[in-house]
Amino acid sequence: MASKQMKQMVHMNQGQGETSYARNSSIQTAEQKRMQPLIEAVIAELCSSTSTLVPGKMVIADMGCSTGPNAVTLVSIAVKAVQDHCFQVQRPPPEVCLLLNDLPNNNFNTVVKSLVMLRQSNEHVVVTGITPGSFYERLYTSDSLHLVCSSNSLHWLSKAPEDLFRNLIPAYDMDKDAKCQRHRMVLEAYAKQFRKDFTNFLELRAKELVSKGRMVVSLVGRRSDVTATKFSYLSRTIYQILSVMVLEGVNDKEKFDSFYVPVYEPSNKEVREIIQEEGSFSIREMQVHDPTTDMNNALSTPSKFVNLLRALCEPILVQHFGDVMCEFRALQSVTGAWRATC
Ligand SMILES: C[S@@+](CC[C@H](N)C(=O)[O-])C[C@H]1O[C@@H](n2cnc3c(N)ncnc32)[C@H](O)[C@@H]1O
Repeated sequence: MASKQMKQMVHMNQGQGETSYARNSSIQTAEQKRMQPLIEAVIAELCSSTSTLVPGKMVIADMGCSTGPNAVTLVSIAVKAVQDHCFQVQRPPPEVCLLLNDLPNNNFNTVVKSLVMLRQSNEHVVVTGITPGSFYERLYTSDSLHLVCSSNSLHWLSKAPEDLFRNLIPAYDMDKDAKCQRHRMVLEAYAKQFRKDFTNFLELRAKELVSKGRMVVSLVGRRSDVTATKFSYLSRTIYQILSVMVLEGVNDKEKFDSFYVPVYEPSNKEVREIIQEEGSFSIREMQVHDPTTDMNNALSTPSKFVNLLRALCEPILVQHFGDVMCEFRALQSVTGAWRATC
C-alpha cells in the first residue's frame, strides 16, 4: 500500500532562545561572509551593464532567508555593494527593490523589522518586500529579478524522496542487515529527489530573472565526487538519537521508519552536472569550502551540537513525533559533539 506523505513543516527554530536559529547559525553566517566578494563582483557587473539595468532599477531576491540576523545579511551586502560601486564610478545608484523569501511557516515578524531598519538607513531608494512560498514554485513574475541570492538553503528538499515514502522504505534501517542491503538505494533516492528539485529551481529562476540576470547561491554539500555513501553527519546523528529513543520506548518504531530528514548534501560534481544538464545558466565560478574550522568553533560540546540540530530540525521532529524534545536533548551524549574526523 502506498503511503501518503504529510507535508513537512520546514522552518528554523524561532525567537532568541538557546535552541533558536538566531543563536545557532554561526556556521551559516561564516558561509554568508564567504559569499560577500561574489555578490560585490556581480553587483558591480550589473551596475555597469546599461542593457540589464534599464531603466535604472535593480530587483534582488534572497531565497530561504529564515529568521535572525542572517535573514537580511545577503541583501545588506548587495545594497552596500550598489552604493560603493556607484560612489566609485560617480553615478547615481539605481532604485533597489529587496525581496525576501522563505516558506510560509517562517517567522517573518522580526525579518520585517530588520528590513524596515535597512530601508531607513539608506539614503537612496530602497523598497522591500516579503514573498512567502516555496522556492520550488514560481514566486515572481517573468523577467523581473536582476539578482537571486541564496545561502545554506538549497540542500533542503521539497519533500522526502518519493521513491522511499511511496514504497514504505525507511531512510535509516535500525536492522544492520537491512541497512547494508538498502542504504545505497536510499541514498540514490535522495540524490534523485535533489536532482529533480534543483532542476526545478533552476527552471523557475531562469523564468524570473531578466536576460543576463545573475545568481549567487551557496549550499551545504559534501567533498566526494561519487554518489553519497552515507548520510551527512548531522542527518546521521538525528537518526541515531531517534533510533535510541525507539529502543528506549520513547518513540514508536513505525513513526521512526516513516521519518525522513528532507536534506541532501550533493557533491560539487552533482551540482555542476545538474546546472549543465538544465542548461539555463552557465557557471562563472564555483567554490568549494571546507567548513571544518567553522564546525569545530561552533560545535565544541554535545549540547551546542544538539542545539544546532534542534534549531534546524525541531519543527519537523515535533510535527512527526510529538513533543519529544526533552528526551532528544537528554540523548546528547549519543552525539559526542562534532569531530573533524567525522
Ligand atoms: C539553514 S536556513 C538558512 C537561512 C539563511 N539563508 C542563512 O544562510 O542563515 C534554511 C532556510 O531555507 C528555508 N527553506 C527550506 N526549503 C525551502 C523552500 N522550499 N522554499 C523556501 N525556503 C525554504 C528554511 O525554511 C530555512 O529558513
